[in-house]
Amino acid sequence: MNAPATSNVHMPASQPARAALEIADLQAWYGESHILHNVNITVQQGEVVTLLGRNGAGRTTTLRAIMGLTGARKGSIRINGTEAVSLPTHRIAHLGVGYCPEERGIFSSLSTEENLLLPPTLKTGEKGMSIDEIYDMFPNLKERRNSQGTRLSGGEQQMLAVARILRTGARLLLLDEISEGLAPVIVQGLARMIRMLKAKGYTIVMVEQNFRFAAPLADRFYVMEHGQIVETFAASELNAKMPVLTELLGV
Ligand SMILES: Nc1ncnc2c1ncn2[C@@H]1O[C@H](COP(=O)(O)OP(=O)(O)OP(=O)(O)O)[C@@H](O)[C@H]1O
Ligand SMILES: [Mg+2]
Repeated sequence: MNAPATSNVHMPASQPARAALEIADLQAWYGESHILHNVNITVQQGEVVTLLGRNGAGRTTTLRAIMGLTGARKGSIRINGTEAVSLPTHRIAHLGVGYCPEERGIFSSLSTEENLLLPPTLKTGEKGMSIDEIYDMFPNLKERRNSQGTRLSGGEQQMLAVARILRTGARLLLLDEISEGLAPVIVQGLARMIRMLKAKGYTIVMVEQNFRFAAPLADRFYVMEHGQIVETFAASELNAKMPVLTELLGV
């Protein structure tokens, strides 16, 4: 007789396997435009997952829908087990999510350190990284601690945008195209940052156009097309999936 598929009787009650993010049948609209069509994504705690797709596929919209920043949403978005699909953005953030939008959103008139002092601590009980921890992880930012946001290079601004999220205590990071427009040497620095965050147990969802950057970092991949997930596979399947990816993404 087959064991029931959902049986977890052997799992210690104190350590339930819990997904950091479970998106089920998510639909999202901008006004009248129906953009996401039944998106399903599950990310376990500590995983790095990359969302790939061509321009306009719906990757940014997926991150924005998780944060409650689109128009209407339908379906389910569970963050650390809590249903978030009808919560407002600030309540969603307090479930432990940090969103780094493509436009980075750092305060250009403030210094690096002032930017790092601004973020609130989320109500998750997780302490955010201290300024010293941030400077250990991003020595460049320490050197530039008194520089105004506008004076930072693109790479430094990107690191500051991520560092600011780490200050809040968010453990689930949604990163939109962090490598975009940056020189290869800077992108290598971002790859090191992702590895460090993974080693510290952060859960990361990365939207990426830069396949070469994402490929060696991700545990699993999702591919979107026309607001739907059309492929999902693990890093171990990457080689076998290359022909499909070439077709879907032109990589
Ligand atoms: N604010 C908006 N209002 C109406 N439609 C939008 C809005 N933002 C995006 N869209 C549309 O939603 C679709 C998905 O866009 P999205 O920004 O999610 O794509 P993407 O996968 O992030 O690609 P890229 O970043 O390369 O543009 C596109 O057709 C886009 O035109
Ligand atoms: Mg986008």
